[in-house]
Amino acid sequence: MIRKIFFIKLLKKLYEKLLQFILVTRGDIVANIINKEKSENYIEIGVYKGDTFLNVLENCPRLRELSGVDSYDAKNYNNYQRDNTEQFNQKTLDEAYYELKYKLKYEPSTKLYKSDSLKASKLIRNNSVDIIFIDASHKYEDVKKDIKIWLPKIKKGGVLIGHDYCIVHFGVILAVNELLGINNTQILPHDIWYYKKK
Ligand SMILES: C[S@@+](CC[C@H](N)C(=O)[O-])C[C@H]1O[C@@H](n2cnc3c(N)ncnc32)[C@H](O)[C@@H]1O
Repeated sequence: MIRKIFFIKLLKKLYEKLLQFILVTRGDIVANIINKEKSENYIEIGVYKGDTFLNVLENCPRLRELSGVDSYDAKNYNNYQRDNTEQFNQKTLDEAYYELKYKLKYEPSTKLYKSDSLKASKLIRNNSVDIIFIDASHKYEDVKKDIKIWLPKIKKGGVLIGHDYCIVHFGVILAVNELLGINNTQILPHDIWYYKKK
């Protein structure tokens, strides 16, 4: 009997966890971090169709400035490991750009940079951003490059976060551990890594 109750409780817990994972999106997690940190400006590297960006825009009332950076270049996107799929051909990326641009047309707090990550970083002052979300190329060298170029842009006490800290994107794990250190980095739901700049 006790075993049966334990098993039912375990099943219930697993079910709740699964439900939580399905219902809470990546965008919800990012928006939650932004609200907790009381951030006023946000940059997302690799915005694509804007799923996360639009969620943040809607749910983070304290944000005064939101910038999205994306090269929308299929050649570039081959760096992401799910390349050559229908989702990431040039036509899809072009459509993603124009649709997001249209959605942001009357959102004065937003900026969309159709630009390579490195090029866009040169337009941003050092120590000026509260939170940056890195979700562009997931290759080891590229994630390292993104961390190196965007970390200096963050204010002291601000946060750098990124997506896909998982086995499928092992390069992300290696780059984050190497540059930021396992002990300084937290892993949140949806494989989001989190680093607070001291
Ligand atoms: C995984 S998608 C981003 C998803 C988005 N952050 C979201 O949460 O919905 C990755 C995006 O990164 C962009 N990208 C890849 N390499 C880039 C680079 N070097 N500079 C700028 N954008 C890049 C791609 O064009 C693609 O749209």
